[in-house]
Amino acid sequence: MTKIKPNNAIDRRLSVAPMMDWTNQHCRFFHRLLAPDALLFTEMITAEALLHGDIERLLGHNPAEYPLALQLGGNSPDRLAKATRIAAVHGFQEINFNVGCPSGRVQSGRFGACLMAEPNLVADCIIAMQAETDLPVTIKCRIGIDDMDDEIGLNVFVDTLSAAGVRIFYLHARKAWLKGLSPKENRDIPPLNYARARRLAVRRPDLMIHLNGGLVDATTIMTELSNFAGVMLGRAAYKTPMLLSDLNLSIFGRAGKTRLEAAMAMADYADMMEEIPLHAITRHMLGLYASCKGARYWRRMLGEKARQDRRGGTLIRKTAIACEEISTSWAA
Ligand SMILES: Cc1cc2nc3c(=O)[nH]c(=O)nc-3n(C[C@H](O)[C@H](O)[C@H](O)COP(=O)(O)O)c2cc1C
Repeated sequence: MTKIKPNNAIDRRLSVAPMMDWTNQHCRFFHRLLAPDALLFTEMITAEALLHGDIERLLGHNPAEYPLALQLGGNSPDRLAKATRIAAVHGFQEINFNVGCPSGRVQSGRFGACLMAEPNLVADCIIAMQAETDLPVTIKCRIGIDDMDDEIGLNVFVDTLSAAGVRIFYLHARKAWLKGLSPKENRDIPPLNYARARRLAVRRPDLMIHLNGGLVDATTIMTELSNFAGVMLGRAAYKTPMLLSDLNLSIFGRAGKTRLEAAMAMADYADMMEEIPLHAITRHMLGLYASCKGARYWRRMLGEKARQDRRGGTLIRKTAIACEEISTSWAA
């Protein structure tokens, strides 16, 4: 018997995609300052890592990051159920299952995108996970893999998962080509197909289909938002984080922090996290002044200078003030 989960109260119109090595807790704290209403995602954590690893380190986060979805990877219903049981009591608002990652390491473990060819196994995983939590269990996937028919194949995949109780999908609107492309190439080379994603949203209006992939400019994003339950941004959120602030304002009617406010808040955060090397925090902030006059100075100071065994927020504070001066002196 499948269990249909109620949709909890999270507003998912804007989310920041899970990105390994990028969307860790420092990054998420930063993004939250700019997008107070977005749904944030952890990096993918495999069920096996959670069952064998340091749980506090893997699941650790700051409540300031909420609403926050934990992304799990795996392919064993039993192992995923155990991982979900562990994770469910750690405060997350959603558990997301990764069926979109194309890396070779992930394929050799037979999970991630290659599971799109096995919808029944994915359904078993989801049912097992749902049995362990009242949180919504959601799916992130591609529109297909390799030579899978992206009309019929995607419909069968989504219909099978919706019959298992999934209501919320994040769709990276390109195929994954599992042979011959690196994970990075697989994020750029298979063509984006928003039209296919739109057809799915029209065909299944009972589901919440969120569009992901290649969303970089506010105009396109706001247009596509009218076709989907929400939009999910990955690289653009990381590289040009002020886009998050613009979108938060357009979508939810309230702005995030300004550049200077966000920089100062991150300086305070770095003070608080004095045991963490400064660069581990600042490396996620290099895009804050993207397309401003001080951009290069900001990147140099927070990229290179921050590496020199520094701790605490002084460098961030001084650099932000200098960047504000550079931009105003140019404007004058
Ligand atoms: C560095 C990096 C790491 C990623 N790690 C994950 C991951 O752990 N789980 C996942 O589902 N997708 C992962 N992705 C894919 C993104 O979530 C997203 O689907 C993809 O980048 C397309 O969106 P974008 O064009 O807005 O970046 C990763 C992407 C990048 C750039």
